[in-house]
Amino acid sequence: MLKIQNLAVHYGMIQAVHDVSFEVNQGEIVTLIGANGAGKTTILRTISGLIRPSQGSITFEDNEITKTAPQKIVANGLSQVPEGRHVFSGLSVMENLEMGAYLRKDGEIKTDYEQVFQKFPVLKERKNQDAATLSGGEQQMLAMGRALMSKPKLLLLDEPSMGLAPIFIKEIFSIIQEINQQGTTILLIEQNAKMALSVADRGYVLETGKVVLSGTGQELLESEEVKKAYLGG
Ligand SMILES: Nc1ncnc2c1ncn2[C@@H]1O[C@H](COP(=O)(O)OP(=O)(O)OP(=O)(O)O)[C@@H](O)[C@H]1O
Ligand SMILES: [Mg+2]
Repeated sequence: MLKIQNLAVHYGMIQAVHDVSFEVNQGEIVTLIGANGAGKTTILRTISGLIRPSQGSITFEDNEITKTAPQKIVANGLSQVPEGRHVFSGLSVMENLEMGAYLRKDGEIKTDYEQVFQKFPVLKERKNQDAATLSGGEQQMLAMGRALMSKPKLLLLDEPSMGLAPIFIKEIFSIIQEINQQGTTILLIEQNAKMALSVADRGYVLETGKVVLSGTGQELLESEEVKKAYLGG
């Protein structure tokens, strides 16, 4: 569904991503794990069309999207939940969800709000509240709900567990699995390697902009290198 080939990304003179290749098949949860500064967000933003690569190609459903405009990429069915959530403050929860649907032309938007509220009941309770007043966990839910309103075929999640209490982390990961079971393919970026690998079909380990290991979620959880570097021994 998504194929990244020999991707390189530079910020001016500094190279953040070196010759990265990986793929995501339809129906999978694939995770990209790595420490601070490994290049995870850079890769995600490049897939979304927000940064242009200096080398390599990105193919989504057999279409080369390496030079496609970000809004066209979203309209094609590839949406991102950005690192740090970035909900729109000054807008209500409902208005934030509406923003997620603004590129859609079909008439099913109403039932999709209901589906988002089923997954995240707290958003329904707070639908008229300013998004800025939500807790961190609730903002993550809103950012995910907003992305779901674009009806993505492939959802990119950038560190959804960041800064959340363990109970929220569990809930967010179980909702990620639910979204996947309902037919959305997922590329999950995480520093929380244990949680990410335990829900992922496959994973890739990124170090200083390079893929250094790959395997099934289970294989990586059991790998000595991963245990030592990412699972606290
Ligand atoms: N706008 C930018 N200008 C210059 N360098 C940048 C920029 N954004 C990121 N970098 C550099 O690129 C490298 C990769 O950063 P990136 O944000 O992709 O890492 P990350 O894996 O998402 O880290 P984290 O887990 O902390 O979010 C880092 O060395 C970072 O300093
Ligand atoms: Mg990041």
